[in-house]
Order: sequence, then structure tokens, then C-alpha cells
Amino acid sequence: MADVNLTINGMAISVPAGTSILDAAAAAGVFIPTLCHDRENPGFGACRLCVVEVKGARNLPASCVTEAVGGMVVETGSPAVVEARRTILELLLANHPADCLTCEKNGDCRLQDYAYRYDVREPGFKGEKHDYPVDDTNPYISRDMNKCILCGKCVRTCAAVEGRAVLDFAYRGFNTKVAPAMDVPLAESDCVYCARCVAVCPVGALAYKNLAGRGRAWEIEKKPVTCTFCEAGCTFDLNIKTGRVVGVTAAAPGAGRPLCLKGRLGLELLYTDRPAQPQLKKDGQFVEVSWAEALGLDAVIEKIKALEK
Ligand code: FES
Repeated sequence: MADVNLTINGMAISVPAGTSILDAAAAAGVFIPTLCHDRENPGFGACRLCVVEVKGARNLPASCVTEAVGGMVVETGSPAVVEARRTILELLLANHPADCLTCEKNGDCRLQDYAYRYDVREPGFKGEKHDYPVDDTNPYISRDMNKCILCGKCVRTCAAVEGRAVLDFAYRGFNTKVAPAMDVPLAESDCVYCARCVAVCPVGALAYKNLAGRGRAWEIEKKPVTCTFCEAGCTFDLNIKTGRVVGVTAAAPGAGRPLCLKGRLGLELLYTDRPAQPQLKKDGQFVEVSWAEALGLDAVIEKIKALEK
């Protein structure tokens, strides 16, 4: 494919035709903030945080959905661009809980990062706020739609998994919300908890329940591990805190390949600390028992003894 020559922040660069301004900037080492852009599912263009200034253009185009064209002169940090990004962040924060202190995504939240980067301390706009109940109905994923910024990454990621598309946008206008069909809790939907949606969520709307309270983002080291439960060989991340694995999470997903719950929980069982004693459910409660009892050996021995009599 032929190359196009353009200028980004005064740097002359050359990229293959069809490259977005965002990717052209990245190739030149220029950072542009994004919220809705997903390399695996590009071309959404919803959040507008990636706007840039293009000489001669009437408005500020979103760089993730605008093709780099020969002769373009692009500025990624002009006063107009910074002002636009600050306004977008203020609008997002106007309807977002300010509970960073206790949010599980503290330290791993793009909204928080960009608010810091662009010095947005206050929401800037006052108005109605959502007060959705947190969907805690399943054992694996916590959904707090009050924190959702409608970037749609979870929707597109779920749709990319063959036979899924559990999530979509529901309702309209201010009430637009990401939800399973008929807005039922996740536990009542077709969700299989592969958690690819959690892996791509840039804010605290989707979080792993098993990692709640187990460590801050900056305390956790991630190490990739290949699942061996089937031939797909998916990649997961071991989450390690002070030398101990505290959980297993879905790595940033590859297109079209699900990361199944069996793999994630199986690896968790392999790598995290397990109870020292086996447990059996008795009278509705799990109680610690001996290995012989857990494996049914006691019952077998009793039966053999009975046969000998
Ligand atoms: Fe480009 Fe959201 S990242 S519009």
C-alpha cells in the first residue's frame, strides 16, 4: 500500500495509506488520549477524547476514526484540543461517582489518569446523576453502571465473541445504559463470565469480584500465563502481590477468541493459595474434613469391612 506523508506536531512522518491519525501519531511516538478506542475493534469514535486539530479543517476530528491524508498538518496538543478534551472530561465527571478512594480501579482508570493529566478537578457541570443499583448478582463480575462512560468497548468485545453479544446499549439519551437484553442482571443473561469485558473496561464500571479488596493496581504485578485446559491456549494474567498470586484475570483479548471461565478459574485453582484442608458440604455448610473422607476412602473402607464380615 502506498505511503502518505503528513506532519504531526511539526514532525514529518510517513505512514501507509488508510492509517488513522491516531495510529500515525503513535508510530511517531506522539501520545493521544483515548477512551473508546479499542485496537481489536477499531472505528467506533464515540468519546471524542482523541480529537486533534487539522490545519484547514472546520472542526476537531476524532483521530481514531479519521484517516491520515497526504499533506495533512496535525496538532495534537493545541489550546483548542486541550480545551475540548477538558470539556469532555468535565462532562463525563458530571455524571460519575467521585469515589476514587475506594474504587477497585483506582490507579488503573483512564478517566482518573486523564483528569489528572488535564487538571480537571471539578465536574464543571451540575445536573442529574444516575443512581443505579450495583449488579452483584453473579459470583464473578461486579457491574456498577453509575461508573460507565458508555465507551462501548465491552459491547464490541462481547459481540466479537462468536455466539455471544450479551451486552448492548439500552434506552436513550441521558438514560442510555449498557445492559444485557431486557436489562436483566448479568446472572439472568447468557453471559458466561469470560470477563473479556472486564479486561477492556477503562473505568470502574466492570470489576472482578474475586479481586475486590486484594490489592491496589500499583501493588499488583501481572505475569502472562498460557492456559493448558484446551487446545486454544488462551493467555491469562497472573496477578501477583508481594510474591503471591491473588487472582487470575483475562489478558487484553485477541479478536474472536473467548477466554473461558473454566480456564480462568482452573488457573486460579492452580496458582492461588488453596485451603489446606478439603471441605465437604454437610447440612448446607462447608466443613473441613480429612482427605480420606473427601475422597470417599472412609466409606469404601467401611464397605470392604462390611463385606469381610
Ligand atoms: Fe477516538 Fe473515543 S478514542 S473517539
